[in-house]
Amino acid sequence: MDVRESVRATVYLDHGATSWPKPQSVIDAVTQALAELGGAAGRGTYAMALESSRTVVRARRSCAALLGVADPRDLLFQPGCTVACNLMLKGLIGPGERVVVSSVEHNAVVRPLAHLERRGAVVDMVRADGDGVIALEDVERSVRAAPTRAVVCTHASNVTGAVQPISDLSRIAHEHGALMLVDGAQAAGHLDVDLADLGADAYAVSGHKALLGPPGIGLLYLAPHLDAEPFVDGGTGGDSASTAMPSERPDRYEAGTANLPGIAGLSAGIAVIAAEGGALRRTDAALISMLHEGILAIPGFRVLGPPPGVPRVPVLSAVHERVPPDRIASVLDRTYGIAARAGLHCAPWAHETLGTLGCGAVRFGVGWGNTEEHVGLVLASLREIVRR
Ligand code: ALA
Repeated sequence: MDVRESVRATVYLDHGATSWPKPQSVIDAVTQALAELGGAAGRGTYAMALESSRTVVRARRSCAALLGVADPRDLLFQPGCTVACNLMLKGLIGPGERVVVSSVEHNAVVRPLAHLERRGAVVDMVRADGDGVIALEDVERSVRAAPTRAVVCTHASNVTGAVQPISDLSRIAHEHGALMLVDGAQAAGHLDVDLADLGADAYAVSGHKALLGPPGIGLLYLAPHLDAEPFVDGGTGGDSASTAMPSERPDRYEAGTANLPGIAGLSAGIAVIAAEGGALRRTDAALISMLHEGILAIPGFRVLGPPPGVPRVPVLSAVHERVPPDRIASVLDRTYGIAARAGLHCAPWAHETLGTLGCGAVRFGVGWGNTEEHVGLVLASLREIVRR
């Protein structure tokens, strides 16, 4: 079988890493932007450049409508959720300032915070419970203990799928004069994210996961009252005679030529979620619950995170008492054509919290395009793998 055939045969269950396949409308939007939208958005006044600019404006409006952002200019296109997290953290937390952070963060948060710690920030990690959920009283105790600049928490874990109580955490943060900063990589698209309701001061979004866009595009919501320090300086198409970055949004945070194919693709993905998101979420929830109960019924498996019946985003990680996770993922791939991700999932703190730092886990992420048949195949394959 050549590579193309083997990729076609793959049962893809790594939506936690990136969604695949993409809806045809997303592929068409990316292709159309490349084929038809010459000119850089916000640069030039000839017809094609203006159409590129309009594409960005329309996309920003659709993203704002989906995420409950009143002024689209507070939603900044970024080259991915990792860069959005970096801007949120490095732009808002200064030397000597204190941060309270959950123990289930991805390295997109852990590493920028380690960078800030090396420059004098103080980081207090609050441990999640055995299901990977943060207790409000633990966060409250920490923010009470010392003046705190920000509480930082993922909305949903990429290891356990556990959903954190962001509205309550925002309330606690604000009561103590702290900002609430959220990594929404696994949440936007899987959960009904309403930023007006969540109360977060900044919220980082991935475009290529549950929002079904292409890689290389993400968003940062930055509340209007915040002036984060931009960490990318460059051309914005306006105020060009000044050496300083403009103060207006979104230009202040969007130096360089816009990723038009990425933005157009994300906009198409958002249109799919706006139209079909409710039905997709119900399918994902049914599939993840079938997978969860099915894996628990196989002797020797432990599933990380909340028990069945507790809402989670549709990722599920498991460990077997005898067969290592990387072995399971490799046999799933080579023998059964099933794509799943083993290891630490760039989230060593989360694995440490769950007691799986040494071996990691095998993770399944369901999403667009998955069916009961796929889950049935995974369960039958797992049964065979552990029987051998
Ligand atoms: N952060 C992505 C994952 O969890 C890549 O797999």
